Amino acid sequence: MKVVVLGDGSREHTITILLSRSCISPKIYVLSSYRNPGLKKAAEDSGGQLFRCNILSPSEVKGIVDELSPDLIIIGPEEPQFHGVVDTLVDGGYAVFGATRKLAEIEKSKVFMRDLMWRFKIPGRLAFKAFTDVNEAMEYIENAGDVVIKPARQAGGKGVKVIADLQAYLSDIKSEIRREYAKKLISDVMTHYTDIDYKLLIEERVDGVEYTLMTITDGHTVLPLPLVQDHPHAFDNDLGPETGGMGSIQGPGYILPFINQQEYQESIEIIKSTLKALQTVVNDRYVGVLSGQMMLTPIWGPTVIEFYSRFGDPEVVNLLHVLDTDFLDIVEAAVSRKLASIKLKVRDDLVTVAKVVSPKGYPNNRRVAKGHPISVDEGLIRSNGCEVLYAGVELGSDGNLYTTGSRIATILCSGSNYKVVSDVANKCAELIKCIDGWDTFYRSDIGSESLVSERMRLAEAVRDVYTYRRKNNLVSIKVDWIPGRGATIYDYR
Ligand SMILES: Nc1ncnc2c1ncn2[C@@H]1O[C@H](COP(=O)(O)OP(=O)(O)O)[C@@H](O)[C@H]1O
Ligand SMILES: [Mg+2]
Repeated sequence: MKVVVLGDGSREHTITILLSRSCISPKIYVLSSYRNPGLKKAAEDSGGQLFRCNILSPSEVKGIVDELSPDLIIIGPEEPQFHGVVDTLVDGGYAVFGATRKLAEIEKSKVFMRDLMWRFKIPGRLAFKAFTDVNEAMEYIENAGDVVIKPARQAGGKGVKVIADLQAYLSDIKSEIRREYAKKLISDVMTHYTDIDYKLLIEERVDGVEYTLMTITDGHTVLPLPLVQDHPHAFDNDLGPETGGMGSIQGPGYILPFINQQEYQESIEIIKSTLKALQTVVNDRYVGVLSGQMMLTPIWGPTVIEFYSRFGDPEVVNLLHVLDTDFLDIVEAAVSRKLASIKLKVRDDLVTVAKVVSPKGYPNNRRVAKGHPISVDEGLIRSNGCEVLYAGVELGSDGNLYTTGSRIATILCSGSNYKVVSDVANKCAELIKCIDGWDTFYRSDIGSESLVSERMRLAEAVRDVYTYRRKNNLVSIKVDWIPGRGATIYDYR
C-alpha cells in the first residue's frame, strides 16, 4: 500500500511514525517544501521517498501524485487545503484525508466560523463584528470596550491582540492602541491575503483555561481524541509573543487535570453541531480532522476560540505515546465512511509532555534564526524514553542539519506523572543545540507542577461561575461594565 503525506513539520513527522507502526507497513511518500530529516528517514525506512515541491500548488502536487498513484493521501497543514490542493486531488479520483477548500473555511475565516455558530445557535459562541472597511472598523473600535482584535483570516498565529479594557483611566490610551494595532494588522498581515474580503474581526474578550479537542471525522461519525493543552507563548509563565506552539500536555486518559468529563463531552457536542452546520451550508462531506481550540470560560463553560481543519502541531505529537489503535486503520475508515466501526484505544496510565526547542529569534525575527547548524543527540534522547519530531530543520547538501528559522523540533516524553515527565523532557531539550553557539530556547514550565496546579485553580474558579450562571438561567446574558463608560449587554439568544 502507498500512502502520501503532505507537509513539512513535526505534525507530519508524527503522522509518518504512526503510519510506520501500522501492521499493513505502507510505503510512505512525503511531499514537503524542504528536506526535513525526520520525514526523509521515515519515508525511506518504509521503502518510500521524500519529494520537495511547492505544497500549496495544486498542479505541482497532483503532478507528483499522478506519478506515484497512491492508495491514500493525508494532508497535514491547513494552507494546502485553503489553496484547493484537496479539491484537485479529490477531483483526480484520489482517496484524500483532509478538508476541501470550502469546508476548510471553518479554519481560514474566523468570520465565517463565528457567523456559522450564531446562525445555528451553537453553544460556546462569542459576540463579534467583522469589517471590510478600515474606517468603519476604526469608528467601532473607538468605543468597543473589552475586545480582541484579530485578522479575519487564519494567519498562522500572527496578529491576534487581546486588549482588556477594565481601567477607565486608561481608556483613551487603549483606544489609541487598538486603532494603531488594527491599522497595522491590515497593512502588515492582511495585505498578504487576497482570498478573503473581510479584513478585521473584533470579538468580545473572555478569560479562562485553554485546551484543544482534536477529532477525526468521516462526515458522519466524529471520533474524539484525548484532550491536549497547547502553550502558544514563547517563554515561561505564558510570557512573550505568540508562537505556533511551544509544547503541549495530555492525559491521563481523555481529559486533562483541569477539564472534567462533562466539559469534554460538551466540547465534543460543540464540534458535532459545528460539523453538521458546516456540511449543511457547504453541501460537502468532511473527511479529515476537525479540531476545536477551546477555552473554559465563565460565560459558557466550553467556548470556541477557533477551529482547525487539521491536527494541531505540536498537539498531535502527544498521541504518539498513547494511541493504541492502528492509525492507518482509522484514516482508511474515515476515507471510506466507516469510522463508526473503529473502537479507539488510548492508554490511560500515562501523561505526555511535548516540548518544542526553537532557535533564538523565533518567532519575530526568523531571518536571524535561520541557517544555524544544529546537533541532536537522538541516541541519548531515546535512551530517556523520549522521541524527537523534527520541525523547521533542513538536511543540507553537506549532510548537516540547519535551522530554517522556525521551531527546530519537538521532544515527546511520557510517564506516570507530569512533574517527572516534564523534568525528563527538559533534560532532553538540552540535547538539541546549535553547533555555532547560537542560542536555542524551550519552555521549562510546560507540565510543571506549578503551571498545572495554576490551571487547575483557574479552571475551578471559572467552573464556579459558569455553573452558577447555568443554574440561574443567565447563560444567554453577559454584561460588561466599564467604569466611566457604562454597561454593554450581550444577549446570546
Ligand atoms: N475572544 C478571546 N478572548 C480572549 N482571548 C482570546 C480570544 N480570542 C483569542 N484569544 C487569545 O489569543 C490567542 C490566539 O487567538 P486565535 O483566535 O487562536 O488566533 P491564532 O490564529 O493566532 O491562533 C488564543 O490562543 C487566546 O489565548
Ligand atoms: Mg489559535
